Amino acid sequence: LLQLILWGLIAYGLGSVPFGLLLTRMLGLGNLRAIGSGNTGATNVLRTGSKGAAAATLLLDAAKGTVAVWLAAAFAGEAAAQLAALAALVGHCWPVWARFRGGKGVATFIGVWLALSWPVGVVCCATWLVTVLIARISSLGALAMVVASPLWVLLLGPGDMFLLSLLLAALVVGRHHANIARLAAGTEPRIGR
Ligand code: G3P
Repeated sequence: LLQLILWGLIAYGLGSVPFGLLLTRMLGLGNLRAIGSGNTGATNVLRTGSKGAAAATLLLDAAKGTVAVWLAAAFAGEAAAQLAALAALVGHCWPVWARFRGGKGVATFIGVWLALSWPVGVVCCATWLVTVLIARISSLGALAMVVASPLWVLLLGPGDMFLLSLLLAALVVGRHHANIARLAAGTEPRIGR
C-alpha cells in the first residue's frame, strides 16, 4: 500500500508540472492566464501565436503522463500504473506547483493511454486529430476522444482498465464544462481564429 501511495504522489508531482505556463514564460509569450480561454494547455498556447511552443506543450504535457505510468509500472506493477495515470491527470488539472489552477488534461490523457495500452492511445490520438481536422475545434476533438475512449478500451485494451477509462474520461469532460456550454451556444472558437 505504501508503494501505491508513493507512486501516486510521484505521478501527481510529475503531472503537476505546468509546461504551458513554463514555456510561455520562458519564451516571453505573455501571460497565458490572460490569453484566450486562460487555460494552460497547448490549444491556448497556440493562441499566443507560437506553433512551436504549442507543439512543445502538447508533447511535454503528454510525456509527463507517459513517464509517470512507465515508472510506476516498472517499479511497482500494474495497479500502481493505473493509479499513476489517474494521479498524473489530477496533477495536470490541479497542479500543486501552480496554485492548483491547471489545465483540462487532454494531452496528459493521451500520454497516459500511450503508456497504459498503446493501441488505445493511438486510436485516442487519431479520434482527436480527425475530429479537430474536420471541425477545427480543439475542445470538440478532446470531448469526442475521451467519450469514445472506454469503448476503445473494451475493444483494444486490457479489460481491467475499463473502470479507469471511465474515471479518466469523466475527469476530462468535467474540466470542459465551460467549453461544453460554448459548444452548445455555438460560440466555441475555431482553431486559427
Ligand atoms: O486542450 C484543451 C482544449 O480541449 C480546450 O482548450 O483553451 O479552447 O479551452 P481551450
